[in-house]
Amino acid sequence: VISIPVRLRTCSYEVLVGKGVAARLSDLLPSGTKKVAVVTQEGIDFEIDPGVQKERFVVPPGESAKSLSSVEELCRAFARWGLARTDTVVAVGGGVVTDVAGFCAAVYLRGVRYVNVPTTLLAQVDAAIGGKTGVNIEEGKNLVGAFWQPAAVLCDTDALSTLPEREWASGRGEMAKCAFLGKLLRLAEPNSSWSQGDPDTAGSSRSVDSGWWGGDSLEEKIARCVAIKVAAVTSDEREDGVRALLNYGHTLAHALEAADLQSGSSDLRHGEAVAVGIAFAARLARRLGRIDDEKVAYHDEVIESFGFDVPVKLSPGTSSGALVEFMARDKKARHDLTFVLDGPEGVEVVSGVPVDEVVATLSEMGCPR
Ligand SMILES: NC(=O)c1ccc[n+]([C@@H]2O[C@H](COP(=O)([O-])OP(=O)(O)OC[C@H]3O[C@@H](n4cnc5c(N)ncnc54)[C@H](O)[C@@H]3O)[C@@H](O)[C@H]2O)c1
Repeated sequence: VISIPVRLRTCSYEVLVGKGVAARLSDLLPSGTKKVAVVTQEGIDFEIDPGVQKERFVVPPGESAKSLSSVEELCRAFARWGLARTDTVVAVGGGVVTDVAGFCAAVYLRGVRYVNVPTTLLAQVDAAIGGKTGVNIEEGKNLVGAFWQPAAVLCDTDALSTLPEREWASGRGEMAKCAFLGKLLRLAEPNSSWSQGDPDTAGSSRSVDSGWWGGDSLEEKIARCVAIKVAAVTSDEREDGVRALLNYGHTLAHALEAADLQSGSSDLRHGEAVAVGIAFAARLARRLGRIDDEKVAYHDEVIESFGFDVPVKLSPGTSSGALVEFMARDKKARHDLTFVLDGPEGVEVVSGVPVDEVVATLSEMGCPR
């Protein structure tokens, strides 16, 4: 079992990664918990035993479950069941479940404690870590939410045994992002609590496979991503600075997801969108003269090593106009188009990117105007 401590100004907790770690739930439940509200989805057959009275609350599948109406339904169901302020919500599921359950925990009775038991690769490496919770509204993804830290996160690799291949691929999209950030930001070089292997191999163009996807055990790879996120969250809990860099590839990714949601298809997976967003961010950075062809090729190489087809093409179904509109609404945008981009000084937040350059880059990737 690998333990990654999260030490924040306001609280401290552990992220445990490994086979069977969900069995530690009863030890890690916040003191005073008499009831546990388990928020989950149909089809997630991962049993947990909190050692106290529990009740299952099911949210519908898909991104559309991240809605204010789900929050209302859950909070009303918690109230009918008598969930008290000293009790605990436990999210058992992917990022949709951890986001919506975490937000309910943040607002129900003005805040109850919660524990994340993420059951997708994407949620284990990213969504369940860091205390960002929230839901979507029609105007965009994650526009309503709260920073609310869990009391513990249990990344049990046994939970992944039933995960469909497409969800594995989605998790690998976020892992690819971590591969960049580990190298480009020099964040969270493995520390003594979990380090194994040579940290310098992380994200380097020669050893992407061995350092990030091919070599280490699954547990170590997950822990490596968790440590990167924890390092960013610890230094910047409310996303004023370095934490924003975790959104590498996400400005376009969120726009693609919003367009997908609006079209009613809801088929695009988050990590798939992130892989496209990273390829786009590299090309936009090149167009703005921040990086050269070699660096773009390095981005493609990393994305490919995580199992994605390159060159990445945008689906012709969405217009660049619609995507730009969603991107301008992204909550990281401060009144103009803002992206996290690679450059001579490494990855940084770049504001005021001209719309023409964005549209030209989208069309370079096959997106009609
Ligand atoms: N809060 C954050 O910091 C953060 C970070 C990244 C992503 N997110 C959010 O996470 C969400 C995506 O999460 P996701 O990719 O986990 O998708 P998801 O939660 O929709 O899960 C994908 C599908 O897999 C199913 N599933 C989950 N665990 C399973 C298992 N063990 N076996 C079989 N099926 C299983 C789910 O029921 C669902 O149908 C997005 O809404 C995204 O915005 C949040």
